[in-house]
Amino acid sequence: MRSEEPVSMPRHVAIIMDGNGRWANARGLPRTAGHRAGVERVRETVRTAAEAGVKYLTLFAFSSENWNRPKEEVSDLMGLLRYFIRRDLAELHRENVRVRVIGCRASVQPDIRALLTEAEDRTRDNTGLSLVIAFNYGSRNELARAARSIAEQVKSGALDPASIDETTLASYVDTVGIPDPDLVIRTSGEQRLSNFLLWQTAYSEFVFMPCLWPDFDRQAFHEALAEYCRRDRRFGAVSAPELAVGS
Ligand code: IPE
Ligand code: IPE
Ligand code: MG
Repeated sequence: MRSEEPVSMPRHVAIIMDGNGRWANARGLPRTAGHRAGVERVRETVRTAAEAGVKYLTLFAFSSENWNRPKEEVSDLMGLLRYFIRRDLAELHRENVRVRVIGCRASVQPDIRALLTEAEDRTRDNTGLSLVIAFNYGSRNELARAARSIAEQVKSGALDPASIDETTLASYVDTVGIPDPDLVIRTSGEQRLSNFLLWQTAYSEFVFMPCLWPDFDRQAFHEALAEYCRRDRRFGAVSAPELAVGS
């Protein structure tokens, strides 16, 4: 027997925005054109998420491995992040969006670091959608940084190794205070995590979409949300309806 209750909307949606390069290639355009088209989709996606009642939206914008791309492409991507924050921060703030950034800040250019900090500071008290930008983000790097911080606390005597548990680790990763993603969407047909949120996605639902990121429109987003609503999340236990039948 299935419960008649509608499955609730995901509270946290995380998106691996993939396929900009292939979108541009298919049109005989340089990869940058794909990245530019991708930024326009980001705007629409933030709005759609807020309208759908999603509380946290995490976007994978630049991975710690993306530095391995040609210098010009990396520089274009940095330029687009600057452009996005300068152009959209005021509007995000007006729409009550709170911006948070995860990833390693130490190795990004100082002006970008300042922009990211400005975006976080300016929107800190907003109570609407939380937009989490994963920038220079790699989960293995995040976990290594967390392990280092924990080791420093132990060394200084502030933390007892015997007290370290899952909650402790969760409080040292970049996403501290942010609930785990309920739904992870990856566009472009690739079916891998590419070093994204390894710790946080232990019980996330995954939806892989064939469309390339610049083609990810409102309808595609709603399709992914609808697919999520059809899933039966068990977290290692048994379904709620089965429990009801058994009691
Ligand atoms: C995603 O699109 C954007 C970033 C990784 C920054 P890609 O640039 O990876 O596009 P494909 O995968 O080459 O098509
Ligand atoms: C993941 O996409 C990173 C972002 C979307 C920012 P990639 O295109 O870099 O991943 P791989 O190389 O296909 O695994
Ligand atoms: Mg890619």
